Amino acid sequence: MTDYAKLFEDDRAHFMHPSTHAHDHASGALPGRIITGASGVRIRDHQGRELLDAFAGLYCVNIGYGRTEVADAIHAQATQLAYYHTYVGHSSEAIIELSARIIRDWAPAGMKKVYYGLSGSDANETQVKLVRYYNNVLGRPQKKKIISRQRGYHGSGIVTGSLTGLASFHQHFDLPVEGVKHTLCPHFYKAPAGMDEASFVRHCAQELENLILAEGPDTVAAFIGEPVMGTGGIIVPPKGYWEAIQAVLAKYEVLLIADEVVCAFGRVGDKMGSQRYGMRPDLITTAKGLTSAYAPLSAVIVGERVWDVIDSASSREGAMGHGWTYSGHPICAAAALANLDILERENITANAAEVGGYLNQQLRQTFEGHPLVGEVRGDGMLAALEFMADREARTPFDSALKVGPKVSAACLERGMIARAMPHGDILGFAPPLVLTRAEADEVVGIAKAAVDAVAAEVL
Ligand SMILES: Cc1ncc(COP(=O)(O)O)c(C=O)c1O
Repeated sequence: MTDYAKLFEDDRAHFMHPSTHAHDHASGALPGRIITGASGVRIRDHQGRELLDAFAGLYCVNIGYGRTEVADAIHAQATQLAYYHTYVGHSSEAIIELSARIIRDWAPAGMKKVYYGLSGSDANETQVKLVRYYNNVLGRPQKKKIISRQRGYHGSGIVTGSLTGLASFHQHFDLPVEGVKHTLCPHFYKAPAGMDEASFVRHCAQELENLILAEGPDTVAAFIGEPVMGTGGIIVPPKGYWEAIQAVLAKYEVLLIADEVVCAFGRVGDKMGSQRYGMRPDLITTAKGLTSAYAPLSAVIVGERVWDVIDSASSREGAMGHGWTYSGHPICAAAALANLDILERENITANAAEVGGYLNQQLRQTFEGHPLVGEVRGDGMLAALEFMADREARTPFDSALKVGPKVSAACLERGMIARAMPHGDILGFAPPLVLTRAEADEVVGIAKAAVDAVAAEVL
C-alpha cells in the first residue's frame, strides 16, 4: 500500500513546485494532489477520485492519456538506442523521420528545417538566437529588438519570460530585458467603446506600426505571437488580424515567429494555427502536442528565408555555436512519431474541429446572457468564459474576490479540471482532442453548475 501521508510530507519538505505558493504548500494549507493514473480524458488521484481533465494537463495531452502505443515506442527506442547526441551531423533514424514528417505533413508551406529542444521556453530561446544570428550575419547588428504582445505567453526564462506579456512573469525578476517591446493584445471584447471589429484590427496594426517607427525600423528584428493566445486568456484573433499584422511586418522587414506551442498538432482544428489563420511565419515554435506530453520535446521550425541565410553564412562563419545535449533526443523522437501516427490514423485534428466546434457552440448557447459571464469565446478545442461583475457595462470584478479561481474550484468539486487563467477572471478549456460529444456535454454541464453556484455567491 502506498503511504500517501509520507509522500505528502516529503513533497512539502523537498519538492519545489512551479507556480506554487511556497509557504501554503510547505505548511499544508494548499492541499496537494498526487496523480496516480490516467486514461482517455480522465485522470485519477491518490484518493481514487476520477477527474475529467478539460485542460489536457497544460493543453498538451492531445491524443488523450494512457496510449500504450506511445509507451511501447518509447520502450523500443530506449532498448535499441536510448541516447546519442546530434552535434556535428550525428543522427538517429527516429529524429530524421520526425523532421521529414513535420516539414512534409504538418508545417505550412515554406518551412525547411527543424531544430529540437525539450520545452516551449527553450525553443523560443532558440528563436531569439536565430533572429540575432540572422541579422548579424546579414550585416545589420542593430536590428535586434523583438516585439511581443501584452498578455502573450512565450515561456518563463530570462528572454522568454520577457517576451511573455504578463506582469507576474516580470515582477521580481528584473524583466523584461532590453530589446523586448510589447504591443496591443488583440482582444476585441476589450476594444475601445464604439470600435467595430474591422476598425479594431486596423487599430492593432497601426499601433504595431507606430511602435516600429518609434523604435526605428532598422532596430526591429522580429514579431512573436501565438495564433490564438493561450495563457493570456484564450483569445481568438479578430477577423483579418493576422493579414493586417503581416502587412506591417513585411513593410519593415520584420520576421514573424508563430508561437504554436499550444495551437500546433490539431488543437485549433487544423494542423497548426498558421494554416487556420493565414499566417506565413518565418519561424515556428512547437512543443506540447508534438508528443502529446508523453516525453518532453520542442521543435523550432525554420523557414526557407532564414535557413538560406544560415546556410550561406556557414561557409564564412563556420558552425553555429548553439546546441543542447538533448537536441533531437531519440526517445522523445520515438514518442513524437507514435503520437503523430495516432493523430493521423484517428483523424484527431478533424475531431478537434468537429467536437471542439460543438463544445464552443454549447458553451455559447449555455452561457451567453448568463449574469456572471461577459464573453464566451474559443476556436477548435480551445474555449474560455470571462466573468464580469456587470456584464452590460463590462465591469470586471475586484481581483481580490478571485471569481475565476472560485469557478475553477467549483468545477473541481464537481469532478472536472478547468483552468483559472492568470489574467482576469477567465475559465479556460483545452481538453484532449479525442473528446467525444458526450464528454463535451459533461464539460458544459459541470461548468454550468459551477458558474451558477459562484454567481449565487458573488452577485
Ligand atoms: C504559447 C506558449 N509558448 C511557450 C510556452 C512555454 O512552454 P514550456 O512551459 O514548455 O517551457 C508555453 C507554455 O504554456 C506556451 O503556451
